[in-house]
Amino acid sequence: MIHFIGTPKIETQRLILRQLVLKDAQNVFDNWLSDERVSDNRVSPAHKQVSETKERLARIIADYESKEHCYWGIELKVDGELIGEIDLYDFDRATDNCEVSYSIGYKWGNQGYGSEALKAVVEFGFNYMNIHKISAAHNTDNPASGRIMVKAGMGQEGIVRHMIRNAKNQYKDCAIYGIFQEDYIRRNDIAEIRVIET
Ligand SMILES: CC(C)(COP(=O)(O)OP(=O)(O)OC[C@H]1O[C@@H](n2cnc3c(N)ncnc32)[C@H](O)[C@@H]1OP(=O)(O)O)[C@@H](O)C(=O)NCCC(=O)NCCS
Repeated sequence: MIHFIGTPKIETQRLILRQLVLKDAQNVFDNWLSDERVSDNRVSPAHKQVSETKERLARIIADYESKEHCYWGIELKVDGELIGEIDLYDFDRATDNCEVSYSIGYKWGNQGYGSEALKAVVEFGFNYMNIHKISAAHNTDNPASGRIMVKAGMGQEGIVRHMIRNAKNQYKDCAIYGIFQEDYIRRNDIAEIRVIET
């Protein structure tokens, strides 16, 4: 059974994963949600106005009331900059499986932050929440996302053709990845995290 503990603060070597707050809206908008270089690899379109970001954040923040909501902003320890987001979602009680998704602002790409955040959340999902399997999908024309899944121990399970149609009306083939809790534990490549209960 999944052990839900909400969205506690998680520290990694260089990052703090923490709950988002409304006053993050401008940074979320500026740093990734208004940027088409990021949104082209997500399902929803880039935000045009910060009011859209505020509405989205208000929904995420309201959901923190539930212990079953796992949605982190990704903050750099070095300067406190909010550089991205990561969440566990679609918890399935029949299987104890869930999905993960994430985004890192373009300016902070290719510095290992996506891998560090994903490894931390995979560790949290398996060793703190007792999830059975974590899955994710990325557009096949976005190989960096597949790369960080591999670095977090996930394996490719196949490609689904035209799995999504993005905001620009383009169909995208998606590569599906997953990892089982037992394989993660057997792999013994545990991410070093510090979980601070909220
Ligand atoms: C995908 C994403 C989260 C990666 O974050 P990141 O912080 O850049 O990731 P990292 O720096 O930890 O790792 C990126 C890896 O991809 C590799 N990579 C980058 N561009 C690549 C490319 N075009 N082809 C193959 N590999 C690539 C990097 O070399 C690196 O691997 P390495 O550490 O083995 O060298 C980030 O690019 C992003 O948010 N993109 C837009 C939104 C998105 O794609 N979300 C996920 C939807 S599934």
